[in-house]
Amino acid sequence: ELGGYPHYMLKEIFEQPESIRAAMRGRLDRDEATAKLGGLNLTPQQLRQVDRLVLTACGTSWHAAMVGEYTLEAFARLPVEVEYASELRYRNPPLSTQTLLMAITQSGETIDTLAAMREVKRKGHPVLSLCNVVGSTIARESDGGLFLHAGPEIGVASTKAFTSQCVVLSLIALHFGRLRHLSYEAGLRIINEMEQLPEKVEQALETNSLCRQIAGKYSGCDNFLYLGRQHNFPAALEGALKLKEISYIHAEGYPAAEMKHGPIALVDEHTPSVFIVPSGGVYEKVIANMEEIRARGGPVIAIVDEDDSRASEIADEVIRVPSAADYLQPIVTAIPLQLLAYHIAVLRGCDVDKPRNLAKSVTVE
Ligand code: M6R
Repeated sequence: ELGGYPHYMLKEIFEQPESIRAAMRGRLDRDEATAKLGGLNLTPQQLRQVDRLVLTACGTSWHAAMVGEYTLEAFARLPVEVEYASELRYRNPPLSTQTLLMAITQSGETIDTLAAMREVKRKGHPVLSLCNVVGSTIARESDGGLFLHAGPEIGVASTKAFTSQCVVLSLIALHFGRLRHLSYEAGLRIINEMEQLPEKVEQALETNSLCRQIAGKYSGCDNFLYLGRQHNFPAALEGALKLKEISYIHAEGYPAAEMKHGPIALVDEHTPSVFIVPSGGVYEKVIANMEEIRARGGPVIAIVDEDDSRASEIADEVIRVPSAADYLQPIVTAIPLQLLAYHIAVLRGCDVDKPRNLAKSVTVE
């Protein structure tokens, strides 16, 4: 069942080129330069009228929602809000009549996500779901939605579901974008970029032994910071969550520039900072943040593009991944972040597939 892997988590990390292919299969429409998303059950007219999207989820799925927020805003120019389901269910936010809710969940059984969805549905809003488990309660109760087709995820720490959620959210953003501002050419460019993604993820998996080596150097540390900006801010949050849930090391994710507003006080030679710093509009800014950490003696582990030169000069450890468009970077950089957490947890003797105090799906409030 484990196919030669010591843990489900590692098996599922390595399944990602295939699970990402499955998430896209049959959904990229080159003729119309858009994503074909039959399951939404809403007409183009209804989708056009949507003036606001609320994405709701918990945990890792909430991080995917945040990645989706950046992409939906960029492609579709739609206002998007990301809400913790546990908060949304007890809030009474003013929602315009044309607000669409999207519940994002691997299991489709998370009680807070279900309750938030029911509350918004009760008010008469259309609700869509992004689920992995077919036939799950949230999939059945939503008005429409998309499945991830990632296959069963057994490890308690979500890995392949996260990258598939990011992929499907990009498809939704492309679809909404093409109903609004995105040109045919822009749609085709996005399709081309997405088609190259599984191969990039395959290459990112080649960092496995490097990640194990780096894990060996830092597995004794008790605190980690994870820093990134824009699309890579939720990637930082997800990297920190992976580490804390399976290795029990305290880790915090921040938008890189926020660190000078408090977290930088934590920095010392025993507190590594994992920077997610692929090329892009904020590259120079993140480098400046890296320099601030180095100046205070903090070790820096940097995840950079394959052809990077500046960031890799400053960092103590460098993990190179294939370069990708900004909205796909959190998917590519997720791979070394998952591997780093995995190897640190194994080295600390933790039960990576069944971490203490956690359940695969949280069905109690
Ligand atoms: O099944 P869901 O996606 O609704 O689960 C949400 C969270 O409970 C889940 O992502 C949790 O945070 C994982 N342990 C993360 O690895």
